[in-house]
Amino acid sequence: MDQLAPPFDPKDFRRALGMFATGVTIVTACSEDGTQVGVTANSFNSVSLEPPMVLWSLANNARSLPVFIATKHWNVHILSNEQEALSNRFARSGEDKFAGLPLDKSVSNAPLLTGCSARFQCRTAFQYEGGDHTIFVGEVVQYDSSTLPPLLYVTGGYALAARKAGPVSTEAQANIEGALYSENLLGYLFGRAHFQFVHGLRGTLQQRKLSDTDFFVLSLLSVRQPLATEEIAAHIAYTGVDLASGALQSMVQRGLLLEQPGTPTFLRLSPAGSDAILHVLAAAKAVEADLVNRMGELESAALRNLLKQAILATDPGLPKLWQAPDTSDTA
Ligand SMILES: Cc1cc2nc3c(=O)[nH]c(=O)nc-3n(C[C@H](O)[C@H](O)[C@H](O)COP(=O)(O)O)c2cc1C
Repeated sequence: MDQLAPPFDPKDFRRALGMFATGVTIVTACSEDGTQVGVTANSFNSVSLEPPMVLWSLANNARSLPVFIATKHWNVHILSNEQEALSNRFARSGEDKFAGLPLDKSVSNAPLLTGCSARFQCRTAFQYEGGDHTIFVGEVVQYDSSTLPPLLYVTGGYALAARKAGPVSTEAQANIEGALYSENLLGYLFGRAHFQFVHGLRGTLQQRKLSDTDFFVLSLLSVRQPLATEEIAAHIAYTGVDLASGALQSMVQRGLLLEQPGTPTFLRLSPAGSDAILHVLAAAKAVEADLVNRMGELESAALRNLLKQAILATDPGLPKLWQAPDTSDTA
């Protein structure tokens, strides 16, 4: 065959192709003998609206290729932001990829996965050779979609979508000459976003006569309790709160915390403390729901992801709050 293109360095060619951001799909099918196959594929694309058609391509060395070639029916699942593990599972050859997965009823015998951003049930319309891949063009016979934010793939890694709203400025006059910092200073953005969010809880905190320290301690114990005084201090030291000034003792005296006798002293929420934090967290959830509603699901998911990255990057070594305590026998 004639050389159609210069001999590219495959790694570099792949890296260049990776500049094209895509979603992530899993394409499934079922053989005549009932064997279910599925592959992670980001080569998916829309083709035609009328008739509704889509395409994707599969490597000629994929184990599932014979099934996709033989069958007429396959389902494309646009994965949601929560389905990264599923994407990795279907990108590995060999194991039973469907073990333990709930399936929905499909128009064909092709497996229909759940929890996706969108699904297209297709019938093969055309098949083409495409170098070391086979291209499948399918007519969409059924589809559905959800509001779950889609998972993206770009520059060789998973990503999240956040719509670009043009240059975002919190104020009309964004840059003042001579100012020591601009509104793009991350510290300013973190701080302002934090205080504006917490502002929505102030009413509830004041009603319940709760200080910021009370709020930190109560919300910590609502996740994990009982905790020793030193553990509480270690968890919230990063906020700058000083517990040495008798803050915990005051919370015991006001009936928010219960002391467990012994050394060290362990503290847990009293019924009044539980009730108080329940109300504050309900208010926080309402503020969050309003924020998500204003920003959109996509942006909120992307923001969570970025905030987690920023928290990891600046972590002073806090004790892990969401991990189960290590109960392994160290004796
Ligand atoms: C994000 C991502 C996208 C992928 N896209 C494709 C693709 O479009 N076509 C393909 O043949 N393989 C693609 N793969 C690799 C296949 O998922 C992988 O080779 C899979 O193991 C094939 O399954 P099988 O050998 O059981 O058929 C992709 C992998 C990942 C992680």
